[in-house]
Amino acid sequence: MTTQRSYTGIAKLLHWTMAAVILVAMAIGAYAALFMSYGIDAAHDAAKGEMITLHKEIATVSIFLIVLRIIWRATHRPPELVGMSQFMQKAAHGGHHLLYLLMVLVPISGWAFSSAAGYPIPVAGLFTLPPLLDKSPDLQPIFAEIHEILTYGLLVVIAGHVFFALKHYFIDKDKSLQSMLPGKIKD
Ligand code: HEM
Repeated sequence: MTTQRSYTGIAKLLHWTMAAVILVAMAIGAYAALFMSYGIDAAHDAAKGEMITLHKEIATVSIFLIVLRIIWRATHRPPELVGMSQFMQKAAHGGHHLLYLLMVLVPISGWAFSSAAGYPIPVAGLFTLPPLLDKSPDLQPIFAEIHEILTYGLLVVIAGHVFFALKHYFIDKDKSLQSMLPGKIKD
């Protein structure tokens, strides 16, 4: 029996599209939250509103991508983690599960935040999602806090994920990173 060495083309496409969507959404969201404040003047308020709308247009796409990704992952076996200790295999699986969990919870918390604020939830300029809950000035700051904490949690897990991908490539010199890159693995 031969061991499958690479992820499927669809898994690779979903992986890199999601990586791009999440990182761009994260950068725009962080920029709007950290560098733009309401109350300076009307033009600045409008610019901040547009930045948050852009953040939502892009970030909501990740909700659809993560659903497809979970379905694909559940129905297609990933490559074996060869040459890793039992402990490292368990740690890698745990890390990947945490990544999936946060990729679900971060956009949902943003969706709940915007719903509680009574703002629309646009998707890539195509349509809007229905609110997850009624407008609630009490719940809005709670979901804002949850969205922020989960997002920074996701950033930490992504940083760990990238670190280990590079460790596999440069230190362990195995084919883990290549298994998620376009094309066939060369020996
Ligand atoms: C890939 C998914 C997402 C990522 C990575 C992400 C990331 C972020 C980040 C980093 C911030 C700044 C947090 C802070 O420091 O306060 C933020 C704020 C925000 N996010 Fe998201 N977000 C995502 C999904 C969503 C979704 C789906 C919505 C709503 C539909 C949303 C709505 C908001 C809003 C309204 C803010 C507040 C911006 C501000 O206060 O200036 N986010 N997001």
